Amino acid sequence: MADTEPVPDEMPAAVLTGFGGPEVLELRRVPLPVPAEGEVLVRVAAAAVNNTDVWTRQGAYGLPGRPDALAGWRGPVDFPRIQGGDIAGTVARVGEGVGAEWTGRRVLVDPAIYDGPSGDANPVGLLGSERDGGFAEYVVVRGERIHDMDESPLTDEELACLPVAYGTATGMLERGGIVADETVLVTGASGGVGLAAVQLATARGARVVALTAPGKDQLLLEAGASAVVHRHSDSAVVSAAVSEAAPSGLDAVIDVVGGPLLPVLLTHVTDGGRWVIAGGIGGPEIDFDLRRLYLHNISLIGSSMHTPAQFARLAEDAVAGRVRPRIASRYGLSAIHDAQEAFTRSKHIGKIVLTPS
Ligand SMILES: NC(=O)c1ccc[n+]([C@@H]2O[C@H](COP(=O)([O-])OP(=O)(O)OC[C@H]3O[C@@H](n4cnc5c(N)ncnc54)[C@H](OP(=O)(O)O)[C@@H]3O)[C@@H](O)[C@H]2O)c1
Repeated sequence: MADTEPVPDEMPAAVLTGFGGPEVLELRRVPLPVPAEGEVLVRVAAAAVNNTDVWTRQGAYGLPGRPDALAGWRGPVDFPRIQGGDIAGTVARVGEGVGAEWTGRRVLVDPAIYDGPSGDANPVGLLGSERDGGFAEYVVVRGERIHDMDESPLTDEELACLPVAYGTATGMLERGGIVADETVLVTGASGGVGLAAVQLATARGARVVALTAPGKDQLLLEAGASAVVHRHSDSAVVSAAVSEAAPSGLDAVIDVVGGPLLPVLLTHVTDGGRWVIAGGIGGPEIDFDLRRLYLHNISLIGSSMHTPAQFARLAEDAVAGRVRPRIASRYGLSAIHDAQEAFTRSKHIGKIVLTPS
């Protein structure tokens, strides 16, 4: 290991000890991780909170055929596990085989663990779930997963907002083939992934219809949405509002909500349209009319995170300053429980960020 800046022997970390309530997330001092060959040690400057942290703690992902089973997004989680998939920081040390020039550089970490080395590999793991993450003072990551941010105009806190939410949104837009002049409906539009999708689809020149709870219109219009439609328990009310906002129909839906509205919204998708689904916060199990898909050549596209190439595109956007995430609030690492509670109250707009140091 190349010797660089002095590092402590141990560090504070938010450690998940099992599935359960806030009490299973413990603040502890743990030994400093050591980078092996091909890895780097990153001093975490900022780490953002995501829905996946909460669902992983709760074991809320279920298993195939057993929706109520306690499980992480890939099934079992190997406890104890340090949470946190959104990491921006500085390389403190490099392991064998990683260039010494990385030391001291500001980096954005791609939190995905892939099933192969190619640019279009599939994500099959996530820092904070299948490997220790960034809710700690330091984290060890693979050298090929760090992206140089020395030239980025974004702050460390802004960078930390990007990997999971903007990475997932980038993956959805890429898999859905969203291009300029298309009309795209984004659900959960004020949430982490949704707001990222509104901004990124707008940056591509798409016309965005944002579906959200009442009271968030101004934020979504500022983020680039052309029209805002409110969630409502009566799906006919939502359907009428979508008709008004997009009279020629929807070329695509970027959806993290699913639930009972999906079959209704599907009737607004034009022939050859795409439905990209990356979450089921409004209900993961639904009924819909298959004829709506095949008679209209609509593609239903499952989307999990991003590929290495898609993340590299996001990193380029960050260096060029083409994305500017919104920070809702900041907490110290010791206030992780308050941060997750604030996240689950869902009153925030933008990302909740932890500063471990
Ligand atoms: N597949 C992947 O790779 C991936 C990656 C990240 C996240 N996800 C999933 O995507 C979903 C959103 O994640 P996130 O981090 O963006 O979460 P988030 O920040 O909590 O945002 C979720 C948004 O969905 C809306 N919402 C919440 N409860 C709802 C309900 N019962 N019915 C309808 N809408 C509701 C709210 O937005 P409005 O008020 O604007 O409607 C909320 O802000 C989660 O299910 C998460 O697990 C998937």
